[in-house]
Amino acid sequence: MNFSISSEVPELKKGGCFVIGVIQDAVTSNDKAYLPDKVKRLLNAVAADAGFKGDVGKSIAVHSAPETQGCSIILFGLGPKDKISKNSYIAAINHAIDSLQDIVSKEIHLMLPELHIPGTRDGWKTRQLALLLKLKSYRFEIIKNVTSKTYPAHNKKLVLCIGGHNGSGETRNMRIGDAIGEGCNLARELGNLPPNICTPAHLAHTATGIGKNLKFQTRVFNEGQLKNMGMDALLAVSKGSVEPAKFIEMIYTGTSKNKPPIVLIGKGVTFDSGGISIKPSSGMDEMKYDMSGAGSVLGTLLAISKLKPPVNVVGLIPAVENMPGGKATRPGDIVRTKSGQTVEILNTDAEGRLILCDALTYAEKFKPSAVIDVATLTGACVVALGKIATGLFSNSDELAEELSDAGENSWDRVWRMPVWDEYQTQLKSNFADMANIGGREAGSVTAACFLSRFATKFPWAHLDIAGTAWNSGTNKGSTGRPVPLLCEFILSRCGF
Ligand code: BES
Ligand code: MN
Ligand code: ZN
Repeated sequence: MNFSISSEVPELKKGGCFVIGVIQDAVTSNDKAYLPDKVKRLLNAVAADAGFKGDVGKSIAVHSAPETQGCSIILFGLGPKDKISKNSYIAAINHAIDSLQDIVSKEIHLMLPELHIPGTRDGWKTRQLALLLKLKSYRFEIIKNVTSKTYPAHNKKLVLCIGGHNGSGETRNMRIGDAIGEGCNLARELGNLPPNICTPAHLAHTATGIGKNLKFQTRVFNEGQLKNMGMDALLAVSKGSVEPAKFIEMIYTGTSKNKPPIVLIGKGVTFDSGGISIKPSSGMDEMKYDMSGAGSVLGTLLAISKLKPPVNVVGLIPAVENMPGGKATRPGDIVRTKSGQTVEILNTDAEGRLILCDALTYAEKFKPSAVIDVATLTGACVVALGKIATGLFSNSDELAEELSDAGENSWDRVWRMPVWDEYQTQLKSNFADMANIGGREAGSVTAACFLSRFATKFPWAHLDIAGTAWNSGTNKGSTGRPVPLLCEFILSRCGF
């Protein structure tokens, strides 16, 4: 769907369509001044007949009535004025977008009443609207062999009518929401692709392609190079797979080259069988989304390189497949990480931290202002926070606060968990500097503690997205989180 802003409301005419948000119990109010009285009377009558009061998730429609000159009009509820929230707005807009599926008009005009949503800044509504439109336009349809189902909303134009005021600010907000939505959809597509297609090489190929299109620098290291770089922990995870490991580097330069960049690191395990510590077979298919951290870093670089904010951003993706095999790493194996610290691999299913630790050490070369790693790291994080909040772990209160704020503002929220020294003792090994697992208790915390030992030279945050990157059940599929959070963080950091 195409999306634009207009400061004028067009006349009602055949083939047109108006979608109008109404506040609960104010359906009959007079703020729809752009509608002729006879149309307002008609809508009020239809609303009364249908018992429509403006609840969230409810709507009424009038099609081809003489009073409307044949124009379609849809009223959708925004709920009671004093209960409007980010959640209710998002639910109402999603319902409105769904109600457009049956509309034949090519051009749709959307009107919203004046409304302030608590806890939001100027432009939030428009950004969110553009994001939701983009997210709704996504379909996974490359593989499913349906007879090219048509989705009418795809080739429509949606015009947001904002009656007179500052159109240029809103056009900018629309562009930002749209770019973030595109980044989310890339992350979703990569997460949804089957693991025989979305391999480490596929991630590398995707990154290179986007870099070429959007003009950021990319580099892909192969296994020989990784060996020379000392990334033995990363290679230990990949050893049991026939898919070669890749390490992807993406560099977006939006300001002076000597300004320290923000480094994003995404866990790119394209399939996590567990390795020799093999996972139970039920639900193992879902471990194709174990590269969602990588997907979100790619999606964020896509959005950022479209918007061109004045900031430097580096994306790093250690990409591997974790498989059992004759050459696979065994429980008990000890490896030397790039940092020089040694790790006793007691469980080959705790592989995410083994590829991230080498990427964290590699990140030092950028002298970064902040490093954020994003990973579907632990089942324990899903138990702790479910699918609502991403787990946030950090060695810096300032960075943690910045990320928490970005989460609130983008409504892609995080919840901070501790990385206290007392937990570090759980990683003790009798044979190496540390073990790669910390026992049953506080699994997501000990995973973060492991990473913290490789993040000593910069402000660092770790986002555990095991719960938030994926929907299970009938809605099974990738969510695109935390692309909105990361984009908001980057954009607000450089005052864009
Ligand atoms: N990729 C998994 C974590 C995961 C689990 C993500 C469920 C999404 C949903 C990770 O590599 C893993 O296997 N973690 C283990 C760690 C354990 C062996 C210490 C886990 O969470 O069980
Ligand atoms: Mn695992
Ligand atoms: Zn994993």
